[in-house]
Amino acid sequence: MPVSKRRSAKPKPRPQELTPEQAMVQAIEWHRAGLFDRAEPIYAVLLQRWPEHVDVLNHYGVLKHQRGDSLAAVTMITRATELAPEAPGAWNNLGNVLLRLQRVDEAERAFRQCLALQPGSAEAWTNLGRTLRRRRAFAEAEAACRHALELAPNFVDAWYALALVLISAGRVPEGIVANAKAMTLLPPHRRRRDSFARALVLAGEIEQAAQVYREWLAEEPDNPVIRHHLAACERGDAPERAADAYVETVFDGFADSFDAKLASLGYRAPQLVADALAAALPAPQRQLDIADLGCGTGLCGPLVQGWARRLVGCDLSAGMLDKARVRGLYDDLYKAELVQFLVERPAAFDLLISADTLCYFGDLAAMLDAAANSLRAGGMLVFTVEALPEAGATAPHRLLPHGRYAHARAYLESALPQGGFALAGLQGVVLRSEGARDVRGWLVVGRRTAQRPPR
Ligand SMILES: C[S@@+](CC[C@H](N)C(=O)[O-])C[C@H]1O[C@@H](n2cnc3c(N)ncnc32)[C@H](O)[C@@H]1O
Repeated sequence: MPVSKRRSAKPKPRPQELTPEQAMVQAIEWHRAGLFDRAEPIYAVLLQRWPEHVDVLNHYGVLKHQRGDSLAAVTMITRATELAPEAPGAWNNLGNVLLRLQRVDEAERAFRQCLALQPGSAEAWTNLGRTLRRRRAFAEAEAACRHALELAPNFVDAWYALALVLISAGRVPEGIVANAKAMTLLPPHRRRRDSFARALVLAGEIEQAAQVYREWLAEEPDNPVIRHHLAACERGDAPERAADAYVETVFDGFADSFDAKLASLGYRAPQLVADALAAALPAPQRQLDIADLGCGTGLCGPLVQGWARRLVGCDLSAGMLDKARVRGLYDDLYKAELVQFLVERPAAFDLLISADTLCYFGDLAAMLDAAANSLRAGGMLVFTVEALPEAGATAPHRLLPHGRYAHARAYLESALPQGGFALAGLQGVVLRSEGARDVRGWLVVGRRTAQRPPR
């Protein structure tokens, strides 16, 4: 019987039969092809055997970063740079991870170190430009991107980076031209389109941003994120609150960098909520059942746990909840829409907190009804929202071009009593900064009244 060709072909060795060098080549091949589940165990075995192997540390670090564990990535790639300080690639990778973690100064140092070793790297010059933009050093950022383009005139990353630098510097028409040039070289992927539109919004070019979203929505009509941002830019009929799919998509994508990003923006909402509790409540003695609505990564947890007999959190984003779980402070975490969560738990809590989450709601009536239902007599609701600028604030609330809702003071003053709450505090606050501007908000304290007025 003739032997079939297939049988006679030499079988491909399994990873455990490869030499370490072959295994490394195989892992990198799978890694590049996006087959992370296959590449990772090989890197892990190699690292166990050779914990000081520079290439393994470097590649495995990049993979960790791509899988969302950026802190592990920093540790591994930093070790690679310590073992081989003359290797420019590891410095560039380290800079990228640090930049994602918003550790801008360290990222800049890493990219400069890479450039000291490899001054002809258009990629590293571009990365330096992106980093300097974050520091709002726009002239230097532009120079870095343009230098990258002198080295490699068709380097698409440099054109996209230059576009953002120019828009952030207020040179919008030039930025649009640079972006158009980039698009001729390579059509933008989602993150680039999103960054471009957001930069336009921050620069106040709302109609330009709307146009980007319109064209994009025509290509992806079911994408909830684009739909939401287009509604925000068109200032037409906004939904009552951000769609669940929008919230999930955005925050699942944001979970890894959320804490670092918000820290870099001077984010204060959890601390403001905690300050309001300290002013309104007796000393913490673990005496209350507390729900953290839209708990995110759990930044409120450590600040309120002193008052908590039981502390639970709910959020729509599984990615954010995973981060909160790691803190180990919540008795339970629920993947749930917060109004629904409250409706299903009548008279379950003494205190409800919500930091920087109700800015994804316009009308608060359903939330307030549900909160009153879920609180016991005398219970308290403490939350922050963004402030609708007083000047020209005829609307009760509005979806603003950046994609979050803002609320008018007068609306809160009437909505809380109608929802069954005595307004115990309404204070103007700064929630964080964005694009060097303060984001102003309201810190609201409501006490559940015995009787609710009929709606
Ligand atoms: C800006 S983050 C704030 C997180 C946390 N409270 C803090 O201060 O760090 C907003 C969070 O609210 C969640 N969220 C928004 N709308 C929600 C809703 N309707 N139900 C549940 N979670 C929601 C998002 O998934 C996100 O995690």
